[in-house]
Amino acid sequence: MRILVVGSGGREHALAWTIANSPLVERVYCAPGNAGIAEDAECVGIDAMDFPEIVAFCKREAIDLVVVGPEAPLVGGLVDELEANGIAAFGPSKAAAVLEGSKGFVKDLCARENIPTAAYGRFSDSGTAKAHVAARGTPIVVKADGLAAGKGVVVATTMAEANEAIDAAFNGRFGAAGTEIVVEEFLAGEEASFFALCDGEHALPLVAAQDHKRVGDGDTGPNTGGMGAYSPCAVTPAVAGEVMERMILPTLRAMARAGRPFKGALYAGLMLTEAGPKLIEYNCRFGDPECQALMRRLQSDLVPALLATRDSILNRVDLRWYDTASICVVVAANGYPDAPQRGSEIRGLAAAGAEPDVKIFHAGTRADSGRILADGGRVLGVTATGKDLAAARARAYRAIDKIDWPGGFCRRDIGKRVLG
Ligand code: AMP
Ligand code: GLY
Repeated sequence: MRILVVGSGGREHALAWTIANSPLVERVYCAPGNAGIAEDAECVGIDAMDFPEIVAFCKREAIDLVVVGPEAPLVGGLVDELEANGIAAFGPSKAAAVLEGSKGFVKDLCARENIPTAAYGRFSDSGTAKAHVAARGTPIVVKADGLAAGKGVVVATTMAEANEAIDAAFNGRFGAAGTEIVVEEFLAGEEASFFALCDGEHALPLVAAQDHKRVGDGDTGPNTGGMGAYSPCAVTPAVAGEVMERMILPTLRAMARAGRPFKGALYAGLMLTEAGPKLIEYNCRFGDPECQALMRRLQSDLVPALLATRDSILNRVDLRWYDTASICVVVAANGYPDAPQRGSEIRGLAAAGAEPDVKIFHAGTRADSGRILADGGRVLGVTATGKDLAAARARAYRAIDKIDWPGGFCRRDIGKRVLG
């Protein structure tokens, strides 16, 4: 088979690497990819949002399956475009990607289906939103309705912060994403990421992972796309069962009834509260960096599962996982998340990647005359496996210590909730 992965981050590197390891696969392409992906797949210089070029490439190269990594092309309808042109694609349609594209849609769905989540209100003007906040008190959470690149959520601890977040949204800070907002109850607990492949009707749970969203050690500093992930994690089999029964399956049924069958990877962002798991949000794709940690634990061939998801025969597929632990530590460019510095040279990658049970996924790099340069905010995802999380973590940091890159930094405490 010939498979095209769309995207250029660490998640897409992990997917391309996993797909390239499948005996079913003859060739893997990635659009646009990055310098690390180029070692495992053939990168083609097409932007993930350039739908006509992607379709033309797939026709020219007789691509058998397209795997779309990031949310923006999914919410923009890339899968619809591909399928309309007779090209098989893994990922939700535009109508189904609304599970990530509109927080208000998800909250209404949760209310109808009795899915455990934070109490909420939807608002399209600041006066009513502020009155709601005044009545509820703080802490409270203010969210732009649409996609805001992870920056549309403010957990407000004071009334002033909440009101400022409401004003910012309605004054256009998030563009169209902020013309409507959701204000919701603050949930206390540990966060976790739960994934299931969904084929419109059936769902196959994957192993869960935990991410570290804040940029600094000890969960300090601004929120990021994710600074590191590990698996297994605090999601016990009992919690996973509850998430499947109370969230994933009712959501799938509701989406099918609404004429928006969800196919692809459904990512439930959970808060593990004292009253059980609650849904914080859905994403319509694999998590990044969770995917990197997950793919290192996957024992089965991923490709038949991707095909079965697309063909709606997921009930015939089972996935096996290694009983080992895995961890992905993100190395980011200095200045991330606000103003990452691009262009600095990264040395020592070969030595670091040669450490046992280590694989370095690239998230934002480019090659320049044989040198590897930083070309993004999150730049590398150093993943390692081990018999337990402590062993995996020690390997990941041993590899990181071999990377010579003064222009980058990482958190030194990934996995601390488990290991201390
Ligand atoms: P979201 O984009 O909805 O995942 O929100 C981003 C981050 O804000 C989450 O990862 C949580 O850390 C935090 N957050 C969102 N909603 C809540 C909530 N209701 N209670 C507490 N924290 C929240
Ligand atoms: N790691 C969080 C995300 O992928 O959204």
